[in-house]
Amino acid sequence: MERLTIKEALKENYVGQKITVCGWIRTRRESKGFAFIVLSDGSSQETMQLVVSGGASAKKEIHGCNTGAAIKAIGVLRESPAKGQKYELEVSDIEVFGESDQDLYPLQKKGHTLEFLREIGHLRARTNTFGAIFRIRNILADSVHQFFRERGFAWVHTPIITSGDCEGAGELFTVTSLDFSNLPRSGDTSVDFSRDFFGRKTYLTVSGQLEAEFLAMSLGKVYTFGPTFRAENSNTTRHLSEFWMIEPEMAFADLSDDMKLAEDFIRFLCAKVLERGENELAFLEAQYKRISREEILRLAETEFVHIPYTDAIRELQNAPMTFEFPVSWGSDLQSEHEKYLTDEVMKGPVIVTDYPKELKAFYMRMNDDGKTVAAMDVLAPRIGEIIGGSQREERLSVLEERMREMRIPMESLQWYLDLRRFGSAPHAGFGLGFERLVQYITGMVNIRDVIPCPRAPGNI
Ligand code: 4AD
Ligand code: MG
Repeated sequence: MERLTIKEALKENYVGQKITVCGWIRTRRESKGFAFIVLSDGSSQETMQLVVSGGASAKKEIHGCNTGAAIKAIGVLRESPAKGQKYELEVSDIEVFGESDQDLYPLQKKGHTLEFLREIGHLRARTNTFGAIFRIRNILADSVHQFFRERGFAWVHTPIITSGDCEGAGELFTVTSLDFSNLPRSGDTSVDFSRDFFGRKTYLTVSGQLEAEFLAMSLGKVYTFGPTFRAENSNTTRHLSEFWMIEPEMAFADLSDDMKLAEDFIRFLCAKVLERGENELAFLEAQYKRISREEILRLAETEFVHIPYTDAIRELQNAPMTFEFPVSWGSDLQSEHEKYLTDEVMKGPVIVTDYPKELKAFYMRMNDDGKTVAAMDVLAPRIGEIIGGSQREERLSVLEERMREMRIPMESLQWYLDLRRFGSAPHAGFGLGFERLVQYITGMVNIRDVIPCPRAPGNI
């Protein structure tokens, strides 16, 4: 089918030419023998106004042109005499592909709440809001690959099904093909996973980091961009059970290289979204007033503040207000603490470094003080943590001791220890939660509004 997208039709100069567009009808109204249809096809924030005049053969198709219907329209593009749009299509032919019952179609002209739209996830992408969000999501995903490609990183594909818990937080979904009505038992009680599909217990991955490490320790600079899964019972506006993560990993790099990469990365993504998502950002800015292009531009141009955990704790203890969760050295930063640091103290993104080892995963490099590790979290205003990363422990004996201390099963991670036995070297990486980034850029309050099909506890 030869058709122009609305984006193409409005970008190139097609005035005076006969073109074909296809899309879904947003609204239709009649006036003085004319029908005016607003058509959207998802290619851009803009819609196309169709004008169907009295004599046109299209007239006989017009009865099927209800809100929500899918149509094809052929006509000549004109500069629009009316205000509201620059161009309009003077329609000669219409084909209705699929009618839509106006009374039953859930998307009505009046605005809907985001909560209502979450209940019709299969239709919400047709709205201005979700069209904007998902197009921005695409621009960001595209720019992620561009960023790493330009810097010589290889995109690697780490497994979805794994046998280990990278983060050691025990938030794993089990993968099994066992028959639940007839589970094999060892002894009387426990399930015998040696008779499961892989001959042992397996899970959905919480992170591709450990595999990315062996790829970095061979290809040099790599990154993953894939889905990760966490059975964390957090019913919040910042947690999903299935989310996408970008995890770069670099050989011959330390924590400061890691922080520099994270900062350059976020700044690059901000610049790209301003360049390619101008209309989408402008729409969200006007509609929800939670983001501004100015703020994103500032973010793209300013350096992030770095602060060691110990100093951050002091900053929080000196805060003029009291927090719900008390603060002392050794306690984890809660989102109220993160928000205070970004929104009140630094008024911008903050990188907190050198956390107490008790708060972080086994693979992080021990600092000389023996108490903290070479970790870094990037905190963004409004959202809190969007990146978690570290320099990795490359010293075999230190790593083994740490794993024993934390009761990490070493047998199944011998391959990971091998990387420290054969040609070990300093290396570092981080994980960016893709939905947290999209949430930050679009200003959406709830993370469930930046992914097409959100998975959360009790919600699929
Ligand atoms: O801090 P996390 O747990 O770090 C890791 O998984 C490391 N293995 C990354 C690495 O060094 N390669 O997760 C990284 C990021 C967080 O900063 C957050 O943005 C996001 O992943 N994240 C979530 N996003 C949505 N829903 C959840 N439940 C998330 N948990 C983590
Ligand atoms: Mg983290």
